[in-house]
Amino acid sequence: MTSAPDRPTVPAPPLAHPDVIGRLTLEQKASLVSGADFWHTQGVPDAGIPSVMVTDGPHGLRKQADQADAVGLGGSNPATCFPPAVALASSWDPDAVRRVGAAIADEARAEQIAVVLGPGINIKRSPLCGRNFEYASEDPFVAGVFGAAMVEGIQSRGVGSSLKHFAANNQETDRLRVSADVDERTLREIYLPAFEHVVTTQQPTTVMCSYNKINGTYSSQNPWLLTDLLRGEWGFGGLVVSDWGAVSDPVAAVAAGLDLEMPPSGGETVIVAAVQDGRLDEAVLDVAADRLLTLLDRTHDALAAQDPALDDEAYARHHDLAREVAASCAVLLENDGTLPLDPSGSARIGVVGAFASEPRYQGAGSSQVVPTRLDDALTAIRAVAGDDRVAYAPGFRLDGTVDGAFADEAVAVARDADVVLAFLGLPGAAESEGYDRTTMSLPDDQLALLEQLVGVNDKVVVILSNGSAVTVTEWRDGTAAILEGWLLGQAGGSATADLLFGLASPSGRLTETIPHHLEDTPSYLGFPGGDGHVLYGEGVHVGYRYYDTLHVPVAYPFGHGLTYTTFAYGEPTATPAPDRGPNAWDVHVTVTNTGERAGSEVVQVYVHDVAARVPRPAHELRGFSKVSVEPGASADVVISLDARAFAFWSLRDHRWEVEAGEFVIEVGASSHDVRGRVSVTSDGDGAPHHLDATSTIGEWLTDPVGAQVLGAALAAAGDAAGMLASAAEPASGPDAGWGEMVRQMPIGKVVSFTDMVTRDQVDQVVAAYDAASRVR
Ligand code: BGC
Repeated sequence: MTSAPDRPTVPAPPLAHPDVIGRLTLEQKASLVSGADFWHTQGVPDAGIPSVMVTDGPHGLRKQADQADAVGLGGSNPATCFPPAVALASSWDPDAVRRVGAAIADEARAEQIAVVLGPGINIKRSPLCGRNFEYASEDPFVAGVFGAAMVEGIQSRGVGSSLKHFAANNQETDRLRVSADVDERTLREIYLPAFEHVVTTQQPTTVMCSYNKINGTYSSQNPWLLTDLLRGEWGFGGLVVSDWGAVSDPVAAVAAGLDLEMPPSGGETVIVAAVQDGRLDEAVLDVAADRLLTLLDRTHDALAAQDPALDDEAYARHHDLAREVAASCAVLLENDGTLPLDPSGSARIGVVGAFASEPRYQGAGSSQVVPTRLDDALTAIRAVAGDDRVAYAPGFRLDGTVDGAFADEAVAVARDADVVLAFLGLPGAAESEGYDRTTMSLPDDQLALLEQLVGVNDKVVVILSNGSAVTVTEWRDGTAAILEGWLLGQAGGSATADLLFGLASPSGRLTETIPHHLEDTPSYLGFPGGDGHVLYGEGVHVGYRYYDTLHVPVAYPFGHGLTYTTFAYGEPTATPAPDRGPNAWDVHVTVTNTGERAGSEVVQVYVHDVAARVPRPAHELRGFSKVSVEPGASADVVISLDARAFAFWSLRDHRWEVEAGEFVIEVGASSHDVRGRVSVTSDGDGAPHHLDATSTIGEWLTDPVGAQVLGAALAAAGDAAGMLASAAEPASGPDAGWGEMVRQMPIGKVVSFTDMVTRDQVDQVVAAYDAASRVR
């Protein structure tokens, strides 16, 4: 069900605050759901209901010093700028994410903030999305684990979170009105599961609806999305807030299940009028106002504690955390052994690239934090290696203006150096909230510089700063190593130095594939759409699901990342875990550090359905575990798979379905680097299909009850029984074509094509099936 009904079909729950709601006037209730200003909810002082402040989010606090407006981006109070989601998720470390969430919440408490507006967990459908730096992955499992850890961390300190942007907000082009046209299965398998996971495991305080439409209906006024799915199916008990300015029709929004419009747009009076003239049921408004009261309950203790402002020591601790975590986020894409550098060696180091001294550490837009401090890599490198060993030239200007003398100076530095550290990346204006990129290339001036650098030095290490994947194929061959730093937050400079000198061990892994060419990307022909529509035509084949199914070569696969050591995998095994329900398994594997240094491995588990009745990706990530292992030591890793790991969304029955048959569980270090496989066999989920006269003979025969009912009904009917028998034959031999043709025929149509079966018999078969299904 993806097109929205007019009204939700699930009943509203009883009010949590019936007495308070009962005492409020219609106007007061309408005010509660309408927001006071850009960052505050409305209070009702007479009723003892306070106004509270909410603010961005997601990787640090952006509390604007004055009320200003949502676009006053530069003027917020200083806060720790942690690595944005693009980097943080690349750590594949939920514990690190939780610690960051808790630290952000502590800063929020000290600033009297009730709700931090994050995390954002939209799927990276295309590397071009301008806001990918704020999102976690092309894969819903990774995005869900990341989002859950962030919400858990924030809420562990009593502060509210806002899971955003719900849903299918995967581009910035036309984001305020575009319709994401997505089929039901793709929504369920790719664009919704991360939200589902966070909602069902963490109960975020709020969910923020997206700006866009889904299949023609604005998210802000989509009863299916905001009520039937979110509350009815997933059991969400929190408040739905609009993205800033996402409400077009305040009455339709409240009716659909939106509880708070931010910032206010005059909806209050419109809602009052709608209740008065009967267009909006007052009981629906009561429910929305009641949810605002629940939000106040849930955040009350954190605000009432009146935490004092954080002192320098607390901010220093958060900076240290930002540094430690940043070091676990960067992904070592390539290394010929040049890294790590010897901190106490004598090699002359040439640092090149403006990003070394002017770091790019976060993305632009509503998430832009004013950092408490800012480490640059050049200073950090000098602090480790000493000033004498390090020469620096920016090589290019960040504003894109080309200056030959700049490049010449950098080439001279490279020529004199034993190793070159080239800090390249995307300038701030290349990617931002509010618009998408049109290319995946690094800027031409940087590529031209790099060509010269590798011409004079064969040990060029590239360190990248970018919020979404850039192509590397045209330039990587001449380099000695590539460290994809993404955007590493305010301590990224020192974390980068830690990694380059081996003071920290690289342990990040790609959460998005790096393709060879933009044209290789699955959504290439359908991004960002036009005329108000974007068709998600690649369906469930997003990211590695597409590349790996079609064997499209990529520069670096999903899940890839090197370390300074090596790992060997034992044979994986799988044991059933019936305590977690049918089709649940535990996957066991032993991982041994076979190198000389300590390091972390991210063990990844992919599931492949050997024979599916619908097209399924070659394999899908269903679990992972990051383990730190000392040299020579081993770790026993157990990764739990539940039934969902084997399921697809059935368009026939509108539910998750696990088919009977064989599944191959692959265990490895990336989506390409599979180190072991184990097969398991499922009996299916046993749930009845929807079978009727329009279902084909093949569908009847693959359902155990359907096959039995159909067989019994037609056993006596001579020719018809023969026809059934031919449909049940394996698809080979001289009559294979006939059997296949019969399998494809809806049983109701048999009546039209032959006189072997009557309509009454078909009706009896359907009735017998319905009766048998009911007793199952
Ligand atoms: C963004 C949200 C943000 C809000 C408030 C919107 O434009 O899409 O992510 O939380 O502004 O700044």
